[in-house]
Parts: sequence; C-alpha cells; structure tokens
Amino acid sequence: MNTLRDLTIETLTHLSENGQEQLALDSEARSILRDWMLAARNGATTPATQPTPPPNTGKATHTTAPAPDSVEEKLAYLQMRAQNWKAARALGTLRDTMVFATGNPHARLMLVGEAPGYDEERLQEPFVGRAGQKLNQILAAANMAREEVYISNICKFRPAMGQNQGMSNRPPSDEEIAACLPLIMAEIRAIRPTCILCLGGTAAKGLLGSGASVSSLRGKWFDCQNIPVRVTYHPSYLLRNDSLTAKRAVWEDFLAVMEKLNLNITPRQRAFFLPA
Ligand code: URA
Repeated sequence: MNTLRDLTIETLTHLSENGQEQLALDSEARSILRDWMLAARNGATTPATQPTPPPNTGKATHTTAPAPDSVEEKLAYLQMRAQNWKAARALGTLRDTMVFATGNPHARLMLVGEAPGYDEERLQEPFVGRAGQKLNQILAAANMAREEVYISNICKFRPAMGQNQGMSNRPPSDEEIAACLPLIMAEIRAIRPTCILCLGGTAAKGLLGSGASVSSLRGKWFDCQNIPVRVTYHPSYLLRNDSLTAKRAVWEDFLAVMEKLNLNITPRQRAFFLPA
C-alpha cells in the first residue's frame, strides 16, 4: 500500500460521494498528482515523489526503526498527516490537540470510539479517562491486554464547546465525523485487523454510515473494507447505567468478538453478568 496515495483516494472518494465535484489544487498537489500519473503511465507501482518517512514518534508505533512500508511506518505517516488534517482544521469546531491511537499495530482486534475527551486530550491517548478505565475492565474480563489491541477514535480532535469548555465534552457532529473519516479508514487499511468493534453509535455512524441506534445495530456482523464489524454500547454508557442487563449486553458483544477471534472462552467467562 502507498499510504499517501491511498489517503488521497480515500479523501477524494469521500468528497465525491458527498456531492463535491470540483476541487482547487495548489501547485504542490498538482505536481504530486502529475508525478503519480506519469509513474503509473510508465508502469511504476510507486510514485516518483514518495514522501520521506517521518520520525516514528506515535503512541501506536514501535520505537525501533520500522521497515519501509511497514504497518508502523504507515501509522507514523498517518499520524503526521492527522496533525495538520486540513479538512478537520477547516471546520474550526475541533480543538487543536490531535489524539491519534494507541496499542498494537498488528492487533487482530481494533476498537473504535468516538472522539477524545478532556483526559484524552491532556494525555494525548485515546480512552484514558473514566470511559477508558471501564474499557480496560472489560478487556481484562476478556483476558486481553490493552497493549494487545489497537484503540482509535473516529474523530482525532476533541470537539470544541467554546471558551469556557472546562472538562465538558460533546460527541462529534456529522461534519466532524466526515472530515476525520479518511484517517480512520486509512488506519483500518494499514492494520487489517481480523475484526473491528465500534464502541458506540458515533463509531458505527462513521464506519458503517448508519445513524441507527446501537441497540438496533447490536447482535449482527457488518462489514467495513471486508473486515467484520460489531457494534456495542460506548463504555461511558456503562458509567451511566451499571445494570446487569447493560453489562451483559456489552459482554455478549465482546463474547461474539472473542468467538470471531477464535479465542478460548471459559464457562465462567460465558456466564459473566447473567442473572443469578
Ligand atoms: N470516548 C471516546 O469515544 N474516545 C476516547 O478516546 C475517550 C472517550
């Protein structure tokens, strides 16, 4: 995969699907596209203007130098692009700090949430606040380490709420989801997990294009880039509703994911949160 080219195609496809028929290109973009076209015409598989790989500083990447075109390198590149993601910046409704992803670039399970909140923005890592602690508990019950899975968000910036935002958070708007969507789509393309779990309705809206309620999306497999996708409640839902029914619902979604991953499930695990 060529990340820059894939990301460009992803963005252009998304714009075109949303009715945009024309695009202004600056001279640098024109020159890159011209080089790609010439390279393709000459039968080359990589563009002449392959960008220099960025330093590998991301949370979702390894500290050793990545092999060329490795997943780590693709993610580091995406992380660098996300930092100045113009479509998101242009909205003027998202805050400045970019929060990319965390976990294992070679994970078989990818978890996708909504957007960073106060804690995530402060620590620049997804799911490190109260919802993150709840997620860690669920992962522990499934015998999965947080470092073993890949955790990302549909929206890479904390949605803004004006000058006195304080610790308040809000879900991203449809425009904010759409602006960031090419990034998560490119992450999925780079990681190619065995399955994806959407944590909440915002993630489902982004990846599946469905605004349906989580309760109606649960219990079925969907598809994103030919990867099976399951939808469950956002961990913050369990912070508001800690009934046995709610916990069991989320747990059943995790059991379905564990089955998809062919993980061993003990009888004790199967019985978690069932009424006594
Ligand atoms: N909620 C999310 O959806 N993502 C985070 O990273 C934190 C809270």
